[in-house]
Amino acid sequence: MKEKTEELRRLQEEAKEGGGKDRIDQQHKKGKLTARERLDILLDEGSFVELDMFVKHRSHDFGLEEQHYPGDGVVTGYGKIDGRLIFVYSQDFTVFGGSLSETHAEKICKIMDMAMKMGAPVIGLNDSGGARIQEGVVSLGGYADIFLRNTLASGVVPQISAVMGPSAGGAVYSPAITDFIFMVKNTSYMFVTGPNVVKTVTHEDVSFEELGGALTHATKSGVAHFASENEADCLMGIRRLLSYIPQNYREDPPRLPTKDSPDRAEAQLDEIIPDNPNKPYDMKDVIGLVVDDGVFFEVHELFAQNILVGFARLGGRSVGIIANQPAVLAGVLDIDASVKAARFVRFCDAFNIPLLVFEDVPGFLPGTDQEWRGIIKNGAKLLFAFSEATVPKITVITRKAYGGAYDVMNSKHIRGDINFAWPSAEIAVMGPKGAVEIIFRKDIENADNREEVETRLIADYVAKFANPYIAAERGYIDEVIEPSATRSKLIRAFEMLETKVDTNPKKKHGNIPL
Ligand code: HXC
Repeated sequence: MKEKTEELRRLQEEAKEGGGKDRIDQQHKKGKLTARERLDILLDEGSFVELDMFVKHRSHDFGLEEQHYPGDGVVTGYGKIDGRLIFVYSQDFTVFGGSLSETHAEKICKIMDMAMKMGAPVIGLNDSGGARIQEGVVSLGGYADIFLRNTLASGVVPQISAVMGPSAGGAVYSPAITDFIFMVKNTSYMFVTGPNVVKTVTHEDVSFEELGGALTHATKSGVAHFASENEADCLMGIRRLLSYIPQNYREDPPRLPTKDSPDRAEAQLDEIIPDNPNKPYDMKDVIGLVVDDGVFFEVHELFAQNILVGFARLGGRSVGIIANQPAVLAGVLDIDASVKAARFVRFCDAFNIPLLVFEDVPGFLPGTDQEWRGIIKNGAKLLFAFSEATVPKITVITRKAYGGAYDVMNSKHIRGDINFAWPSAEIAVMGPKGAVEIIFRKDIENADNREEVETRLIADYVAKFANPYIAAERGYIDEVIEPSATRSKLIRAFEMLETKVDTNPKKKHGNIPL
C-alpha cells in the first residue's frame, strides 16, 4: 500500500508542475502568477479541493499524442471564500498556452454543473490562447458547451470572470455572459480579432493593450467592470465583491454587523447642495456620508462616470446603489450610463439585493450622436430594468428630477417602494429656464424688457415648481426629509421592506429592448 500511496503522491506532484519549470519561469517573467498560485490567493487557506487532476486530452493529431500534461491546462474544483462555498476553474497557460481542448472544456462544465446543483457562485480565472488549434471543431464544441452553461446559470448563481492573460476570438463570450469581468492592467487583453487581423482588415495600427487591454475595456467599451493594478489586487477584489452578494437567487446577501450607528446624523449633508442649481457636487460624498463606515464598493468606476453603481451596506444589509453623478456631465443620462445602470439593476434584482437610488438628473442627453445611436432603446433598458425589479427599491431625490429621467430613476410610478426627497429637490418636466422659454415664448418676445420679464418668469416657475412639494401632495414622494437624517431614514425603510413580496406577471421571459 505504501508504494501505491507514494505513486499517487508522485502523480499529484507531477500534475502540480503544469507545463514545467521553464514555462512557469516564463509566466513569472511576464508578471503573471500560475494557475495554482492564483487559487492560493483567491481562496481561504487550505480550502481548495481539486477535481479531475489526472484528466488528459484525447487528441491524436499534430503530435499531440506525444505530449500529455495531467489536468490538461486547467485546474478545477471547489473551495471557500470567507467560509462560503464557491466553484472555480483556473486556466494554466503553461500547458498548451491554457488552450481549450475537449477535455479542458469538460472539466469546466463539470464544476459549472455542480455549482448549479449546489447553488454556489462560479469563478473563472481565464488565461488562455483560445481554442486548442490541433483539436479543431471539438474545441469549438467545448466552448459552446460552456457558453450554454453560462447562459443557463445566469440569474441562478453569480458568475465572475477574471481575465488574467489572453482572451481572444469567441473565447471572450464566456466572460461576456458572466455577471462581472475583472481585468489586470498591462497583462490581460480581450478582443474578438487581434491587432494583426485588425491591421489586415481595417489597416489600423493598434497595440494589444490599446485594442483590448484592461483600461480600454474599463473606460471605452465597458466590457470590464474592474481594471486591477495587479493579479493579487484582482483576486482580492473578487473576494470583496462576493461579500456583498448571496450564493444563489434563493438566498439573501450576507449581513455584516457594523458599529456605525443607524441613527448617525450628518450635518454636512444639509450643506452639500450648492445654492446655484447649475453648480456640481460629488455624489460620492453623499454616498460616503450615508452608508456604513463610508464604504462604497464601486463597480464600473471608470466607465460612464455620469452615473455611479456599486455596493454598500446600510445597517449591515447589502444594497446596490445607482446614483446620478452631477460632477460628471451634470449627471445626465446617456446611452452608456443607461446600459451600465440597467445591467447593474438586473443583477441586483436577480440576486435579492435591495436597490438604493440617489437622484440628481437633468434629463437624457440631447443630440444627433445619441439619437442616431439609439438613446431611445438604450434609455428604455434602464426604465425596463427598474420597472421589472421586485426587490426593495428606495429613491432619494437630492436635487433635479427632470422629465423622463424622473420617471426612469425608480419613481413611485414604476414601483419605487419609498421615495424620499430632500427640500432641495426640483421635480418638474424640465429645468426652469427651458420651461419658461417654451411656455412664455410669445410673452418674452413681445416684452420691451425681455431679460427682466424672463428673469421674473423663471423666478415664478422656480417658486411654484422647483420643489418637492407638488409631488409630495400627490404622494409621488412619500416623505420630504432633512438631508442630515438620510441614513437613519434609509435604514428604517429598508428594515420595513425586509419582508417585501412582489411579483411580475407569469410569462416565459420579458423582452428587454436590446
Ligand atoms: C494550441 C497553443 C494555443 C492554441 C498557444 N498555444 N495558443 N496551443 N492552441 N490556441 C501554445 C503555443 O504553441 C506555445 O506552446 C504555448 O502555448 C505558449 O504560446 P506562445 O505563443 O509561446 O505564448 P505568447 O508569446 O505569450 O503568445 C500568446 C498568444 C499566442 C498571443 C495567445 O500563443 C497566440 O496567438 N496563440 C493563438 C491564439 C489563437 O489564434 N487562438 C485561437 C483563437 S480562435 P509551447 O509548446 O511552445 O510552449 C478561438 C475560437 C474560440 O479561440 C471560438 C469559440 C466559439
